Amino acid sequence: MKIGPSRIAHPITLAPMEEHTNYPFRLLMKQFGASLVCTERIDAADVACRDRRALRLLHTTTQESPRAGQISGADPAVMARAARVVEEHGFDVVDLNFECPIRRLVNRGEGGALLGNPPAVASIVAAVVNAVSIPVTLKIRSGPDAEHETASEVARLAEEAGAAAVDVHARSVAQAYVGGPDWSVVTRVKQAVRVPVLGSGGIREPGDAIRFLKETGADGVAIGRGCLGNPWIFQQARSLVQGGAIVRAPTSAERGRVLLQLVEGEFRLYGPGPAQRRLARTSCYFAKFVPEFSVFREAVHKVRDLTGFRRLVKEHFG
Ligand SMILES: Cc1cc2nc3c(=O)[nH]c(=O)nc-3n(C[C@H](O)[C@H](O)[C@H](O)COP(=O)(O)O)c2cc1C
Repeated sequence: MKIGPSRIAHPITLAPMEEHTNYPFRLLMKQFGASLVCTERIDAADVACRDRRALRLLHTTTQESPRAGQISGADPAVMARAARVVEEHGFDVVDLNFECPIRRLVNRGEGGALLGNPPAVASIVAAVVNAVSIPVTLKIRSGPDAEHETASEVARLAEEAGAAAVDVHARSVAQAYVGGPDWSVVTRVKQAVRVPVLGSGGIREPGDAIRFLKETGADGVAIGRGCLGNPWIFQQARSLVQGGAIVRAPTSAERGRVLLQLVEGEFRLYGPGPAQRRLARTSCYFAKFVPEFSVFREAVHKVRDLTGFRRLVKEHFG
């Protein structure tokens, strides 16, 4: 698949996830075989005014190429300014978020709220396409709710406005993250546009990714919650999609080593204080595979530094 000039090596990609898909996490998923990675959603207004936190979320290097930077907002001029900042940081793609179900955003008419107004999405896409030279993609859902499926119309208008690919989360905004995804909406979007279509929703096992590609006809699949604590899913799904052998599950010691790599990356990126406050969130997804998970979870809250964390990992992961 190609998104603008960027060649995406295979269809197994990483879905953007707020509070998770930071630079160290993306590097790790890339190392395990994700073909395309994406930042979490960042407010365009913050990016446009170069807010410090927003710029830190835009930290990237060519090591994770090809990669997308994702912004959200409703004002075409602000989105265009923010997209220029994303391009300046070196991202290969700028991704526009029209999918976020968070009430604060939806009440401001941003994120998923825009799926109720396809022409407004097209105006934003057109303004951003005009402002940058990298490809512009969009992340959408099926529509505002089960009764209003706007995904195909949004995708068609966005394509006319110059979008280079569409990524569909196969749930409605009203559904948020609850309930099964309906993959058939991805097939309908695929039939509505010529640009590449990717999709996500409910990929928990490597085999789900293959089934998703087969059933929907999509060009790519994005793995969300299924990779939290389990980057091996990329290796396994990639091998399946390329007709390779089944990749064996990692040993406990391997899980511990990879968790440490991620946490050390977060200490480097955020500094000890903020990285430590993230420790429980980052490590519990990996630790759910250890026999004494509840003991680990209690102990991780008491860890005071990286040395203490290394000791804890050694104790529980071997
Ligand atoms: C914790 C969390 C945060 C998310 N943050 C974002 C985000 O910042 N931008 C975005 O486009 N999608 C976001 N998503 C949606 C995912 O990219 C993806 O579409 C969805 O999780 C797919 O479903 P699955 O987790 O069931 O596989 C988020 C999902 C979760 C679970």
